[in-house]
Amino acid sequence: MQTRPRVVLLGKQGAGKGTQAVRLADHYSIAHLSTGDLFRAQAKQGTAFGLEAKRYMDGGDLVPDEIVFGVIEECLAPGGQLSDGFVLDGFPRTRAQAEELERVLGDRPIDVVVHIDVPREVVVERLSARRVCVKNSGHIYSVAKPPSQGWVCDTCGGDVIQREDDTPEAINKRLDTYERDTRPIREFYASSGRPLVTIDGLGDTDEVFARICSAIDATL
Ligand code: AP5
Ligand code: MG
Repeated sequence: MQTRPRVVLLGKQGAGKGTQAVRLADHYSIAHLSTGDLFRAQAKQGTAFGLEAKRYMDGGDLVPDEIVFGVIEECLAPGGQLSDGFVLDGFPRTRAQAEELERVLGDRPIDVVVHIDVPREVVVERLSARRVCVKNSGHIYSVAKPPSQGWVCDTCGGDVIQREDDTPEAINKRLDTYERDTRPIREFYASSGRPLVTIDGLGDTDEVFARICSAIDATL
């Protein structure tokens, strides 16, 4: 039997990782982990861990690695949510996280790293226009592609609003953080021999999805 793919999506904030990860999870029957969605859900529930993560997120800062590692180890543990195929969206985001992921995965490593490439000026526009569901921030819309019935989520009926970190200040800070902390991960993967494919993230979401699937299928 074909094993399910283990995929990491890289790309700037607003590149479309969340949008594409939902479709990939469905297409390949794999688990989807967005660390950002997970932190927002915890913050909404008011857990101590979620509220601590929120302090960093609202200002556009990264959540410290030690907090992120705890979550990831739990998800990747045998029998955990990510014990088979998966698509990781928003993790890893620092070189230390990439190294930790390699360590935890051990002898069943990532199959492919897909970098969704979109210029900074385009992602700034996309993030300013993004709207998400309050019940599940993985249900993603935009001013250009709103829900079908007012600002109410088509999937779960939650209100659709602007994310708290989609302010101009936080967007710019997050993109600067990406350049400093996350961009170097690509060199890490290139030098560690993992298949690393850069795809063009411009164009219709269907076109981008087809490009990502071709990149994944070529590695299976
Ligand atoms: P996270 O939730 O991951 O946010 P992010 O990194 O800022 O990335 P985005 O969700 O903004 O971008 P995306 O690529 O998913 O874009 P989307 O598909 O929504 O993290 C939030 C915070 O949590 C971080 O700042 C940090 O504090 C913390 N955090 C999370 N993970 C962490 C980690 N590992 N370590 C430390 N801290 C961590 O698309 C954007 C918009 O564009 C949408 O409106 C969408 O409809 C639209 N769109 C998508 N594709 C297209 C297209 N092809 N054409 C036109 N529009 C498109
Ligand atoms: Mg996202």
